[in-house]
Amino acid sequence: MLEQGYTVAIDGPAAAGKGTISKAVAAHFGFAHLDTGLLYRAVGRRMLQGEEPVTAAQSLTAEELGQGDLRTAEIAKAASKVAVIPEVRSALVDFQRAFARRVGGAVLDGRDIGTVICRNAEVKLFVTASAEVRAERRYLELAAKGDDVSREQVLADVKERDARDAERSTAPMKPAVDAVLLDTSDLSVDAALARAIEVIEMTLPKA
Ligand code: DC
Repeated sequence: MLEQGYTVAIDGPAAAGKGTISKAVAAHFGFAHLDTGLLYRAVGRRMLQGEEPVTAAQSLTAEELGQGDLRTAEIAKAASKVAVIPEVRSALVDFQRAFARRVGGAVLDGRDIGTVICRNAEVKLFVTASAEVRAERRYLELAAKGDDVSREQVLADVKERDARDAERSTAPMKPAVDAVLLDTSDLSVDAALARAIEVIEMTLPKA
């Protein structure tokens, strides 16, 4: 195990393969993993329950992230709405930074990890894929869970969410200047993962 902090920042749009790659990379190297989208989703869920989003973000607990299903289309939409609020974002910064610097290595995936949360991350990856490829993946995921959605609707949602994530004025989604781009449109999961591992191995401190 690494005796020091070591951070892998993985950013990119929804359904580009970020989550799958992050989880697998963390398992491969024995690092802890934080899907930062869950923080915004948990705040979004509280907003749907009637709570004021900034108050919700300020009182969010780590336990909530594991409670119930945060990966529904409805919560995704609420998450992208609360994510544009600067006070919501700033309330979630300390939790993410503390996680990133824990001993033993950490992988954080999100939209602004390499650009805002962990500007000094040892490795930055920006994982992307075309909107059509991402919508198809997300559709299959939702359909498998029994969510009643159409392909057209999922594509429209993906595009709407991309626009909101990329155009917001606070921490918009964009690759860090020092991020390695990984386009998974035509890559298998294994191929994308192999590339991510290769990039990380180049900067990993030698034991
Ligand atoms: O990755 P996801 O679909 O779970 O993210 C849910 C929403 O939260 C998405 O619209 C973007 C936002 N988000 C963000 O603004 N910053 C992050 N670091 C992670 C997610």
